[in-house]
Amino acid sequence: MSVVIETPNSPRSRKQANWEKYGWIYMRVSGAALVVLIFVHLIANLVVPDGGIKAIDFAFVAGKWAAPFWQWWDLAMLWLALIHGTNGMRTIVNDYTEKEGVRKTLVVSLWGVCTALIVLGTLVIFTFDPCPAGAAAELLPSFCPVQ
Ligand code: HEM
Repeated sequence: MSVVIETPNSPRSRKQANWEKYGWIYMRVSGAALVVLIFVHLIANLVVPDGGIKAIDFAFVAGKWAAPFWQWWDLAMLWLALIHGTNGMRTIVNDYTEKEGVRKTLVVSLWGVCTALIVLGTLVIFTFDPCPAGAAAELLPSFCPVQ
């Protein structure tokens, strides 16, 4: 019995062979990095602190993000996972859409959402302040110094 494999539905990819190659390499490199980033993230959040998941609250996040190490760790997870997931979805869209207009709309939407989430997430990581100056005392967590 012989199996006939149809020509892949991705004529666009062949025109831009190098971009597709770099995308392919990115998926493997970022995937390997994400295994390390995600496992350390889970161990640091769930295994190391006493109380497991119950230990994760506002103060826990504030404590972690007071350290530049964890800010950069989380930033790497944010950027690598979002670009990895978006590029993976782009591959699926390229494989399955038949109309060029639908494909373009979906791919542009994907990168638009990815960019917005990366910008917002990066701002949150680096501007997060658990005790903002001038905030009403009753809105601040108990560990903030009295202003
Ligand atoms: C834990 C670490 C991860 C590893 C080792 C990993 C690895 C990979 C690899 C090697 C591919 C390419 C598969 C291929 O070309 O056939 C891939 C595809 C993909 N990944 Fe990941 N990944 C990880 C995490 C994630 C995360 C966090 C997301 C979502 C944000 C994600 C979403 C996707 C998507 C949507 C695809 C495309 C699937 C397809 O082509 O059918 N992955 N992943």
